[in-house]
Amino acid sequence: MLLMSQVLNEAAVNLTLSLPASLFATNRLCMAGPNDFRLSASFRDVLLHGSSAELPVALPAQTASPLHDVPLLLRHLNGVLHHYLRLPHSAQMIRGLADSLISRVNGNPDGYLAAMWLLPSGDYHATRHALHCAILAVFVVRARGFSPDDARSLVAAALTMNVGAVSLHDELSEREGAPTTFQRQMLDIHPLVSAAILREAGEDDELWYQAVLLHHEKPKGDGYPFHLKGGDVPDHAHILHVLDMATAKLMPRGYRGRLSVKKALTGIYTATDDPLGSEIAALLIKTLGFYPPGSFVELTGGRRALVVRAGSNANHPLVSPEHAPATLLDTGLPAHHVVKAITVAIDANRLSLFEGYWRKSSAEQETGGAGG
Ligand SMILES: [Fe+2]
Repeated sequence: MLLMSQVLNEAAVNLTLSLPASLFATNRLCMAGPNDFRLSASFRDVLLHGSSAELPVALPAQTASPLHDVPLLLRHLNGVLHHYLRLPHSAQMIRGLADSLISRVNGNPDGYLAAMWLLPSGDYHATRHALHCAILAVFVVRARGFSPDDARSLVAAALTMNVGAVSLHDELSEREGAPTTFQRQMLDIHPLVSAAILREAGEDDELWYQAVLLHHEKPKGDGYPFHLKGGDVPDHAHILHVLDMATAKLMPRGYRGRLSVKKALTGIYTATDDPLGSEIAALLIKTLGFYPPGSFVELTGGRRALVVRAGSNANHPLVSPEHAPATLLDTGLPAHHVVKAITVAIDANRLSLFEGYWRKSSAEQETGGAGG
């Protein structure tokens, strides 16, 4: 078992981070101590001025269907992220959401993956990205044997990594061209702003804080804002970076569709100079398969089918064919091989037709679910 707190302590001892010296950064941020970044008073006022987004509702109770749950969680998270500094208990709300998400995903893993692939994208791009990244993080923390506290910290970091630039990420999701100069400057410091917002809200969980602060650093040194190299990038921050990249590629944006699992993850998996990234990519491929739950495929003979869960290997999911929806076929059998992935547009009004594939009672979800 990997003890993340040991990794964190080692990394923390070795790191001495300074605020980037640009006027743009120093107008918005300041240092309260070693590696402790805060918002400048004027920038804090700007952020406190607030957002027109809806205030968060209470954490929604779990329902039997992830297809129903995920939109409710998305609305909840969106409210917290947009009003983080103004809410009195935002960190506790995120901890509660992280714990609940870990429990929900572990109780019905295929269902939450299916929600990522089946539910239509739409508003709240930045929040949706954070929630999707956090769902994938649940699989990683489980596979790598994180303690419950460390698992909560990494999932919470995934939920909040872009809290300092939610509206900016929404804008960029619709923009195909290069960011404007102002957008680029804000992007360059958004890990610092996000981490500073956590601190301003009283966060003292170092793993959570540091993962957010360093979630765009890369071992080659071409990350930002500190350009850390090699072992200076702590594992938990690097894991979050890989999950962030993978989520961005796997999910659609306003101007492009999603990439296939193979296309999205093969580059990371084969990178010989990034063993941890490669390991995380392999883990995601094993979790998702090349045809994730909630996606559609064409089988031999031209039959269309819905992927319900992972099968014996990445190429062989278990699927429900269009002509016999109550049947589960093993595509590892030659008669049912997958020919290719296909795109099927689902009307939001018809989503309830799919709920039955991943619906689980609360008792099933608590015990890991039947067949999950
Ligand atoms: Fe980010």
